Amino acid sequence: MERVEIFDTTLRDGEQVPGCKLNTSQKLRIATQLDELGVDVIEAGFPISSPGDFKSVSEIAKLVKNATVCGLTRAVEKDIEVAAEALKYARRPRIHTGIGTSETHIKYKFNTTPDKILERAYEAVAYAKTYVNDVEFYAEDAGRTDNEFLAKVCAEAIRAGATVLNIPDTTGYCLPDEYGAKIKYLMENVPGIHKVRISCHCHNDLGLATANAIAGVINGARQIECTINGIGERAGNTSLEEVVMILRQHPRLDLETNINTKKLLSISKMVAEEMGMMVQANKAIVGDNAFAHSSGIHQDGMIKNRSTYEIINPTDVGVNESSIVLTARSGRSALAYRAKNIGYDFTKLDLDLVYSEFVNFADTCKVVADNDIHHIVQMSKSKFQL
Ligand code: KIV
Ligand code: ZN
Repeated sequence: MERVEIFDTTLRDGEQVPGCKLNTSQKLRIATQLDELGVDVIEAGFPISSPGDFKSVSEIAKLVKNATVCGLTRAVEKDIEVAAEALKYARRPRIHTGIGTSETHIKYKFNTTPDKILERAYEAVAYAKTYVNDVEFYAEDAGRTDNEFLAKVCAEAIRAGATVLNIPDTTGYCLPDEYGAKIKYLMENVPGIHKVRISCHCHNDLGLATANAIAGVINGARQIECTINGIGERAGNTSLEEVVMILRQHPRLDLETNINTKKLLSISKMVAEEMGMMVQANKAIVGDNAFAHSSGIHQDGMIKNRSTYEIINPTDVGVNESSIVLTARSGRSALAYRAKNIGYDFTKLDLDLVYSEFVNFADTCKVVADNDIHHIVQMSKSKFQL
């Protein structure tokens, strides 16, 4: 199997979310967990952005044992110098530098020409190379950049010594086939591309960040930039737990990561708590309902064999077990299953009677808890002399 590297940007793109700012000790706690999770790269911050962020990147650089520690810069000399300083104690430092490459960015952000962008891309990478060996170049808004021009920018970054080429869909605009075709085009048209690693950095404005990152690796990218719980600018980034489990559950892709998936739930909870950004219940992999079954048809299947409605073993992602949640949509087999767990073993006849009480009760509430089952059984006993 070929390895896809996991570049975690929870502490940089993720922390850009309004209200999610972390202090240095919180960042250090999360970085320690990310390293234990097995991510290949931790993007620790944007060192020139504030003294606090500089300190966090520098402390993380000293602390992290296994992962590469990366700092973001613009294609600006001062940014690169400050990032190099913040990363100087890292065992494996990486500078992540780049510039906008779409027509929109060239015209409105930089008010310059495509040729000038090519020059600045080359210069930024070459300057970063004077400090560290590992330099990643990002072509901001690559998703909306003309492929021919993007290939030229990538060629310049490679010529200057880039080790990784990041192709961000900064605005989350691409469709998966379009993003995949972009990566394929670069693989086929950029001189020297096979010496470097292509990276997918996809935003979720249309809910396609995960699908686009997967389309990217199917077409040759070998690094995914992502965040825990998919947090990040606006609608967020590709979710780490989703891409890791997609690659794991689809062996035909022949791609693997270094992630210890059993730690996914605990790190998701930790990041949610530290950032004060709760995870939606229906979030894939780590949401409260990701392994909860509530309709009668599904519950009946699950009780017979979990493969009927589950494609992931919950223990593989750190969830103890799936749950059978009792609601007004639940059937007899779910009621019998849950009642048995708390000591009741009904005959078929008794189950019919208790079930008739159960549905009336369930219509009055959202979820029927174990205490409610005791109550329903007592009611049925007095009503039907069970
Ligand atoms: O979305 C983006 O383009 C970015 C770059 C700075 C890598 O976050
Ligand atoms: Zn981003």
